Amino acid sequence: MAITKKLKPIKISQKHLLGIQDLSISDVKLILQEAKKFIKLNKSRNKKTNILRGKTQINLFFEPSTRTQSSFELAGKRLGADVMSMNITNSAIKKGETLIDTAMTLNAMHPDLIVIRHQDSGASNLLSQKVNCSVINAGDGRREHPTQALLDALTIIERKKKIEGLRIGICGDILHSRVARSNIYLLNMLGAEVNIIAPTNLMPENIERFGVNKFSDMKKGLKDCDIVMMLRLQNERMSSSFLSSNREYYEYYGLTPDKLNYAKSDALIMHPGPMNRGIEIDTNLADDINKSVIKEQVELGVAVRMACLKIFCK
Ligand code: CP
Repeated sequence: MAITKKLKPIKISQKHLLGIQDLSISDVKLILQEAKKFIKLNKSRNKKTNILRGKTQINLFFEPSTRTQSSFELAGKRLGADVMSMNITNSAIKKGETLIDTAMTLNAMHPDLIVIRHQDSGASNLLSQKVNCSVINAGDGRREHPTQALLDALTIIERKKKIEGLRIGICGDILHSRVARSNIYLLNMLGAEVNIIAPTNLMPENIERFGVNKFSDMKKGLKDCDIVMMLRLQNERMSSSFLSSNREYYEYYGLTPDKLNYAKSDALIMHPGPMNRGIEIDTNLADDINKSVIKEQVELGVAVRMACLKIFCK
């Protein structure tokens, strides 16, 4: 028998989820509380609910995705929504149709929510101005990836029982990373101390204005960290060569056991995926079940996306 829950009115100040910057701390707490409720459901035999029965969710992914797209699709289906994931490669976008015309076309079909991933920063904001339904940003250019930061926060809370007072090192290609931006906003909001670690050419200018500590030496940046969050090298956003070689990058900025020793002994390793093993992270560390929570991030991503769909699908 499907689990039936009445659609309770949930108050949130925003119509859309476009970025962590738009959320208040009470919005964040509400999303995380809702997500916690779905963790157990996602481990049970019968995962189906009818919370969003009768609602239509469209997934619009202009950039490749494994984790985000599949978890939004599963999340919608587990909530009972009708989910349509558009195949961009077979769509009229390939014939030159613009994002705005695509949005207007989809809007005419009366969806209740659109999830969008796009290579341009601000694409989700633009879409939200052209459609009647709610929009969730699944990653726009190098600007924001709010559901990734929310699932990262939930993963930390599940393991460490808090975020306030933790020292969190975010390491790698900060310059091109929407994951880094959303995490910086969210972790600061929740009271963490954030260390940003990157080679100088992958470090945004004036990053300190976001209230973070800046390091180019990984060992110094990881000192006494509770969480070590590694980032993917965003080669697709690099117009010129930012790295002399993958081997040199790994030597200075890849997470290895000797560098991890500078963090606390119970530090957790995170990575949003997809990982470049042997470049960003030692492959054994990535799979170390005593230290790495990378698989948990993926698991909790479904719960967080269910919470976001439930809250923003009005
Ligand atoms: N973390 C993340 O956004 O992964 P995908 O690109 O696979 O969705």
